[in-house]
Amino acid sequence: MPAPELALTERFQSAFAQAFGEEFRDADPIIRPSQFADFQCNAAMGLAKRVGAKPRDVAQQILDAVDLTGLAETPEIAGPGFLNIRLRTDWIGNQAAELALPDAHLGIPAPDHADTVVIDYSAPNVAKEMHVGHLRTTVVGDALARTLEKLGHTVVRQNHIGDWGTPFGMLIEHLLDVGEDGDEAKLLESDPNAFYQHARAKFDGDSAFADRARSRVVTLQAGDQQTLEIWTRLVELSKQYFHRIYDMLDVTLTDDDLAGESSYNDQLEIVAKQLEADGLARISDGALCVFPEGFIGRDEKPLPLIIRKSDGGYGYGTTDLAAIRHRIQDLRADRIAYVIGTAQELHMNMVFETAREAGWLTDAVEATHVKIGSVLGEDGKILRTRSGTSLRLMSLLEEAVQTARGVIDELRPDLPEDERAEIAHAVGIGGVKYADLSTAHDSDYVFDLERMLALTGNTAPYLQYAVARIRSISRRAAEQGVTAGPAPRVENDAERALALELLQFGPTLEQVGAAYEPHRLCAYLFSLAQAFTAFYDASPILKESDGEVRAGRLALAELTERVLVEGLDALGVRAPQRM
Ligand code: ARG
Repeated sequence: MPAPELALTERFQSAFAQAFGEEFRDADPIIRPSQFADFQCNAAMGLAKRVGAKPRDVAQQILDAVDLTGLAETPEIAGPGFLNIRLRTDWIGNQAAELALPDAHLGIPAPDHADTVVIDYSAPNVAKEMHVGHLRTTVVGDALARTLEKLGHTVVRQNHIGDWGTPFGMLIEHLLDVGEDGDEAKLLESDPNAFYQHARAKFDGDSAFADRARSRVVTLQAGDQQTLEIWTRLVELSKQYFHRIYDMLDVTLTDDDLAGESSYNDQLEIVAKQLEADGLARISDGALCVFPEGFIGRDEKPLPLIIRKSDGGYGYGTTDLAAIRHRIQDLRADRIAYVIGTAQELHMNMVFETAREAGWLTDAVEATHVKIGSVLGEDGKILRTRSGTSLRLMSLLEEAVQTARGVIDELRPDLPEDERAEIAHAVGIGGVKYADLSTAHDSDYVFDLERMLALTGNTAPYLQYAVARIRSISRRAAEQGVTAGPAPRVENDAERALALELLQFGPTLEQVGAAYEPHRLCAYLFSLAQAFTAFYDASPILKESDGEVRAGRLALAELTERVLVEGLDALGVRAPQRM
């Protein structure tokens, strides 16, 4: 089903071909939303250069050639040659009617090609607290996974947890010291960072412990059975902790999506051998390194990506090379999105370039680093507690739910206790997630609970409230025996503006999936909810006396509700029945 831009594009391209010749059929008509009309066609200025005429004359020629019958009124030429276009209201009405049909999927287009998209996100580290930094990669990654699935792509979630490497020697020794059944071990499930800190303090202060930890790494990497068993339990406890956070956050990651660093263990040597055989890796200062093309350090020397350290150990980079190879060759990815902090940009680019030189990453595969900015405190610095350690994610989320609970208790004291608890969860968690998603993923933002939970502005509660309002209208309609339909009413200006917004849902979602930009969906939903508010202010529904008008407006409101809920679901934000 063509959205307005698509329909207009087709008509204008035919006009280009007719007015200037077949070779102009592919020219971009540059259809953009306009504050003076519904849309503008901005092609005349560019075409003027190609055909060697004045832009306004070209605009006139386009106007003479274009056939907008049934779709739009005759455009007006403005300024240097803009064409202002007002769509026909009955065309919008027909489109909205189609959109409302059960099998129209709210205008979400079927993909030209269903891609396999691997999304690397969340990726916390075992036996360390998931901190606020992991919030964003988790929330943004999950929104992208949900969105791409709605667009008909096959999503493979990969949770690249940090479950391997040198800290495990010290963690295992500490666990052996304190005993698996003791209170200290229980920290792994409740406050893993504390467990990590205690192990770390011992490592720094007790040289005998440090020696034991170091030799434990060696036994671990050598595959010693007993050591592996303890390691497995350590990882197990951490996983339970991660899943408590994921449940709390309504994040779709499960155990099946875990592909931690350790899972690439048996591939590391193979990767190193291949890079050596290809002549890409060589020994430098005792370590095996690759020097991917185009990466130069401050000292003007090529930058190394370390493949094997001089002590024989493999590190983060090699693991990522094994991972990208696996994702392309075994998981058959068409696209890979790495939802990871901006700080790792250089690392990611070096991994991509090395993978290209090794022939794993070809032009047929699109690898993208979806850069994630920082969460800041009110002081503008990276969010931390007073003691300087990073803030516990769980306590932050609990606080959000509690604050939302206060708001709901005041707003709806009449609702039953368990429903208020449910709404507080949806609003508190939704508020935090939405604040994150509505910011461009590579910008930083200030963690401000009050703003996140505000009922006005571009927030989850504002959108959730809009949904609850429509649902309440539907409930009252049902009580009064009023039914919606058959089609949404699109007659007055407010109805027309709302319907026009609704038509943009599918294309917006498509854009979000292609560019990995959930904040565009947030901006869209906000503007849709505003259009609904304007519509509802101007056009009574249940108070309307004309039965046909009432039914048509109810249908328009209910279509809006479906789009809002579907959009929020793509973001991983729940919409309560009442608020
Ligand atoms: N565990 C890492 C961290 O907490 C993030 C891993 C991201 N994924 C990857 N393939 N490197 O910083």
